[in-house]
Amino acid sequence: MPDSASRPHKGQSLWGGRFEQKPAELMQAINVSIGFDRRLAAQDLQGSRAHAAMLAKQGVIASEDAEAIHRGLDRIEAEIADGTFPYREEFEDIHMNVEARLAELIGEAAGRLHTARSRNDQVAVDFRLWVRQACDDTVRRLTALQRALLAKAEPHAATLMPGFTHLQPAQPVTFGHHLMAYVEMFGRDAGRFQDCRARLNESPLGAAALAGSPFPIDRDATAAALGFERPTANSLDSVSDRDFALEALAAASIAAVHLSRLAEEIVLWVTPQFGFVRLSDAFTTGSSIMPQKRNPDAAELVRAKIGRIFGALTSLTLVMKGLPLAYSKDMQEDKQPVFDAFDALWLALAAMAGMVADLEPVRERMAQAAGGGFSTATDLADWLVRRLNLPFRQAHHITGRAVKRAEDLGVDLGDLPLKELQAIEPQITSDVFEVLWPEASVTSRQSYGGTAPDQVRAQIARWKEKLK
Ligand code: ARG
Repeated sequence: MPDSASRPHKGQSLWGGRFEQKPAELMQAINVSIGFDRRLAAQDLQGSRAHAAMLAKQGVIASEDAEAIHRGLDRIEAEIADGTFPYREEFEDIHMNVEARLAELIGEAAGRLHTARSRNDQVAVDFRLWVRQACDDTVRRLTALQRALLAKAEPHAATLMPGFTHLQPAQPVTFGHHLMAYVEMFGRDAGRFQDCRARLNESPLGAAALAGSPFPIDRDATAAALGFERPTANSLDSVSDRDFALEALAAASIAAVHLSRLAEEIVLWVTPQFGFVRLSDAFTTGSSIMPQKRNPDAAELVRAKIGRIFGALTSLTLVMKGLPLAYSKDMQEDKQPVFDAFDALWLALAAMAGMVADLEPVRERMAQAAGGGFSTATDLADWLVRRLNLPFRQAHHITGRAVKRAEDLGVDLGDLPLKELQAIEPQITSDVFEVLWPEASVTSRQSYGGTAPDQVRAQIARWKEKLK
């Protein structure tokens, strides 16, 4: 903190005696928010313009004063843009910094801007505008990631890979199908941000400190000017809730969970043990001691971002818990977690989109693994049901014995001699071998949403149309 001993401190005389300076400095230290709420500058100007225009239209302030305010706000906007705006700690937050600067620029008329307004509804407006924009930006970034996944899925709609449950080989799937699973997840994430936006899109401006205003304000007009659907209906609620931010953080947390899962898969896939995928130098780093290393740091960091994003949701939830109506200064602690969470989410989304575009599947490796682990056992059981009309439970049992036999002989299911299969179930014929290969397994799964390449291509086409 800069030395502020020379500045006048409110409350200095109250403390008196030996506490002369320090308590005042600490008061400022804990109270000041300009260091972070300066990120609301654009929204603050937007809100003030709408408010001033409405006040003039309603005859609450003179139109010359409103014009002076608008000119001053334009100047401030230019100062912010060219980096000359003086952000000053002694004016505590962005709202008072703007108002103080306005007074320097236009004089007395500046003092009329705050008529029928409080910092309580002002900050609620600013923050809603910020979170609304963040929702829109996030949807755009999620869409960009979906496009990257689609572009990678399309050429690999039929590229075999093992599908896992319990991280054990389960049934063969295609790489395109696997990537498209994430397209679905990120699509729902985008939907959550859209829902959040729709719910938050009401204007708290005009709630004033907490009880509304005795001036003849037009809240519909300011709501419309700021792109809100309508004014909020309860002034106490307007200045005291931050559920819109919690909802946005919840949506961000769920998106970050999805990102962490894909990141974890990339980390696994690039290990020599899996060897399913290669990442280029662009998204890997070396080790300072082990020359052979190629580490998937970007994927690991994306995997980790959920920590701070979910942490932000936890922080703000705990800040809000148990707060009596209406505004309390506790709520100034709402901004940093939100800014930090969205910065982290946006970086993670961009890095993931970059990695998805960068990664190249190792087809032979994945195809080989797709056939391993007796992954077509279900296909054998299904064949027994379809061809021999056996109950699935019985088919399951027979297949289990076939797997055991193949394991004992050290061969894949498809390489088990027919007589071995017939020793278990005499009705089995040689055309069973048609279903025991991963290609056949994958191609047979034609149910809607299944892994058959045709189905995968249909989903890719649907999403491409949707994201146009
Ligand atoms: N900087 C404050 C915040 O972010 C603005 C609202 C202050 N209101 C008040 N009555 N002190 O919450």
